[in-house]
Amino acid sequence: MEQKLLTKHIPGMDPMNIQAYLDVEGYQSFFKAFKTQPLDIIGDIEKSKLRGRGGAAFPVHIKMMSMAKQKETTRYIICNADEGEPGNFKDRYLMENNPHQLLEGMLIAAYATRANKGYIYIRGEFDTPIKIMHEAIRQAKAHGLLGTNIQGSGFDFDLEIRSGAGSYVCGEEFALIESIEGKSGRTRVKPPFPTDVGLFGKPTLINNVETFSNLPWILAMGGEAFASIGTESSTGTKLVSVSGNVKHPGVYEVPFGVPIRDVIDTLGGGTQNAQKIGMVQLSGASGPIIPEYMLDLTIDFDRFEDFDSKTGAGAIIVMDDQKDMFNILKRISDFFEHESCGKCTPCREGNVHMSKLLNKFLQSDATEKDLMNLESLSRVMHQTSLCGLGQSAPTAVLSTLKYFRDTYFDRIEHPQEGGLA
Ligand SMILES: Cc1cc2nc3c(=O)[nH]c(=O)nc-3n(C[C@H](O)[C@H](O)[C@H](O)COP(=O)(O)O)c2cc1C
Ligand code: SF4
Repeated sequence: MEQKLLTKHIPGMDPMNIQAYLDVEGYQSFFKAFKTQPLDIIGDIEKSKLRGRGGAAFPVHIKMMSMAKQKETTRYIICNADEGEPGNFKDRYLMENNPHQLLEGMLIAAYATRANKGYIYIRGEFDTPIKIMHEAIRQAKAHGLLGTNIQGSGFDFDLEIRSGAGSYVCGEEFALIESIEGKSGRTRVKPPFPTDVGLFGKPTLINNVETFSNLPWILAMGGEAFASIGTESSTGTKLVSVSGNVKHPGVYEVPFGVPIRDVIDTLGGGTQNAQKIGMVQLSGASGPIIPEYMLDLTIDFDRFEDFDSKTGAGAIIVMDDQKDMFNILKRISDFFEHESCGKCTPCREGNVHMSKLLNKFLQSDATEKDLMNLESLSRVMHQTSLCGLGQSAPTAVLSTLKYFRDTYFDRIEHPQEGGLA
């Protein structure tokens, strides 16, 4: 069931040794890119139908083309390696195990969009990835793969690492840009988008670790070959972070279109002690919670559009039927309350009230009015918050209101009969 494009050499390849990557034809796609016109590279990426792997699933070639069209010659690319959402750990896995694949992807993107400076923004708590990426950059420089006049091509590209202080919202592209600029991590109103006015006011391409890591394969094998993997609208493979009550938690690479149940049962090994699955949260804390009977759904970007929720970064969090749904929801809400940057009212105040309402359900103290308030609050937050944090903070509640509505009424009507915390 696994299909390894990005993880083909994991485990086994020494991430601290560039030679190990060169030995498996590493950087050959970048050399190929040098012999290709930048617009043709973007054309091949368009054929691949690659969509961003950081959560929003935006087509990569559109952003690249927008960069390529800019008159401004100072341009930046940024790799978003913030990965602050609970349940996600696949970017860390890629950086820890194949850092040069990411660097090669960034080099290809920089060459295609004519950006001469790049940043990798890594979550501050990621000590090991930060160390590994620093060493990879050092070795790439020593091999003439970064710096000025790379391989005699006349193309200059330099790369720096920046790390955040652990704030989840700094993964949001404009908050991330503000953070690199030395300001506090808060989003900006869009448009303009980063490819028009980004880092230091210049056009900036921001993509996720997994997104960039796909580019060497696409350049090597061709966009059409990539598009033949997965489904019509979600091409290629997806790295999924499987956690919670499974025998074998970990990162797995599967083609889009694989049923969620197969990933849990076959790769995750099913639940421990064969416990019954109660709920599964997809994409991480910001994603929908679905019941067991929906697990035959396939991994696909456009699955949960009613909550504006994509496959997200690809987390699958398995919870057995002994878990108290309200305990889970309260923890998620506490996370968002803590991480809200406070810039806009629906998110700043909404998350506080959501936590309070969920606590009433948790304490078996809720009424039907609380349920109505929770529902309308969730919709207001979703529709009016300024950035994706506040917009997606109520997704877990909205999805449980849809798929587990009876559990809310049960808790109101039978306060003593709640599940176990
Ligand atoms: C609150 C919040 C946190 C985010 N965190 C991340 C993150 O850690 N990594 C990431 O790649 N994208 C994250 N995103 C999405 C980015 O804003 C952006 O869409 C992404 O970096 C674009 O890359 P992609 O097109 O390759 O997915 C986050 C968005 C929001 C609203
Ligand atoms: S939605 Fe939340 S995190 Fe985003 S700007 Fe508003 S307060 Fe800040």
